Amino acid sequence: MTNKQVGGLIVMFGAAGDLARRKLYPSLFRLYQRQLLSENFALLGNSRREWTDDYFRDIVLDSISDQEADEETINNFIKHFFYTSHDATQADDYEHLNNEMVRLRNQFNTGEKNLYYLSTSPALFPEITQGLKDAEIVTDGGTHRVILEKPFGTDLSSAKELNDALAISFDEKDIYRIDHYLGKEMVQNILATRFFNPAVEALLNQEFVSNIQITLAEDMPVGSRGGYYDKSGAIRDMLQNHILQVATLLGMDLPASPDQDDVHANKLTFLKQIDSLTAKQTVRAQYLASEDGEFINYLEENEVAPDSVTETYLAGYFQVNNDRWGQVPFYFKTGKALDDKRTTVEIVLKDAGDKTDIDKGCNPSQSRITFNIQPETGLAFNLNQKLPGEELLPTMVSINSNVDELNVAYVPDAYEKLIYDALIGDQTNFSTWDELAEQWRIVDSIIANWKNAGTKTLPTYIGKTRGPKEADELLRQNGHVWVK
Ligand code: BG6
Repeated sequence: MTNKQVGGLIVMFGAAGDLARRKLYPSLFRLYQRQLLSENFALLGNSRREWTDDYFRDIVLDSISDQEADEETINNFIKHFFYTSHDATQADDYEHLNNEMVRLRNQFNTGEKNLYYLSTSPALFPEITQGLKDAEIVTDGGTHRVILEKPFGTDLSSAKELNDALAISFDEKDIYRIDHYLGKEMVQNILATRFFNPAVEALLNQEFVSNIQITLAEDMPVGSRGGYYDKSGAIRDMLQNHILQVATLLGMDLPASPDQDDVHANKLTFLKQIDSLTAKQTVRAQYLASEDGEFINYLEENEVAPDSVTETYLAGYFQVNNDRWGQVPFYFKTGKALDDKRTTVEIVLKDAGDKTDIDKGCNPSQSRITFNIQPETGLAFNLNQKLPGEELLPTMVSINSNVDELNVAYVPDAYEKLIYDALIGDQTNFSTWDELAEQWRIVDSIIANWKNAGTKTLPTYIGKTRGPKEADELLRQNGHVWVK
């Protein structure tokens, strides 16, 4: 265990923010508790607020209050936290920041490792990275890595502008763009399953697969995030990043090794092979109030334009222009205020065709391999078996694995894994710029179609239901149905 320990200085921009409190501090605490974060770490939080170290520590303590831990561990952990008031737009403030960093580096013997966590509005990313460079903080020897939260641009050209701005201060190898889905245990299991099971890998092509279905359903409305969401919609919020990255892990050719360079090379090739989508390949919709009155109409949510045509639901499919997947549609659907919170990847296999007796109305259904990503975590194989009895009749049998039953003491949270990866310098589960650019290329093509159509209103679906009927029609046209 000890050789895996990592230390370093973490500078947290946006230290007062919701993400830091909900996810980042608890993740750091669990890393510390599991002795993956060594005593040689310090965290320097900053925001514009005038807080003292003690006030900041109380915020951090509050954020970990539901963790199971002994008092001594908590007391030792919190001693590593410091705060400085900092206005990211003020060049002068960086000098003070640097002084604080030097002090903490010495006090905690953090070594040469520096991680800048930008948990702020993306509008500040260029200013912060430029500020760090101008104050010669990032040119001061040692390693200097930056982690960025999404959104990374709003289209390809704004993303490129942002990337160019970052590139002034940081090399690509030091930029860690978070897609938190890539830290999820079962998302990582997609590639692992392919690596560890050549027979399963051998099925993943158009000879055996009928279609792929990726579902990222959510059972909550946009709530307090209306201002952000109305400018993003499901397409930027979920397709541009999470769905395309998950699809890529399943669809890319198996990398020569799990090393980051091999993984990213194949991911990029796959993303480039995704054809731009036509207008007919997507369905979008907006939620209406739920029947029990708990959810209101999307158009009445705070900070949502009353005539908004932002989609809260998106379904569609893309085709991949290569020999492996040529005929296989990759379907996806995602939405807010649905009846379920569920993430799954279904690999729907081809049926046995006319080798079976169709007249008897008993031909086998399509077998499936399902990655249950959340809330259940595991792999399911749905196979046709013989129904016990004299006749040769098929029945579908489900063979299920559940990660919870694997008897592992602990399954780390996505952020925990990603922060640790950034500290040890492993970029495998972060998005590269080239990947992001392709993801934007795909998304921009869809948005261009929508703009051309000049839509004034969107189809709707009632809150707490499974979404618009148009999404069923989309698959029916291709002779397919949603598994769920
Ligand atoms: C975020 C989106 O990236 O992912 C949110 O901005 C969404 O709108 C969230 O709710 C879903 O993440 P998870 O881990 O809860 O499935």
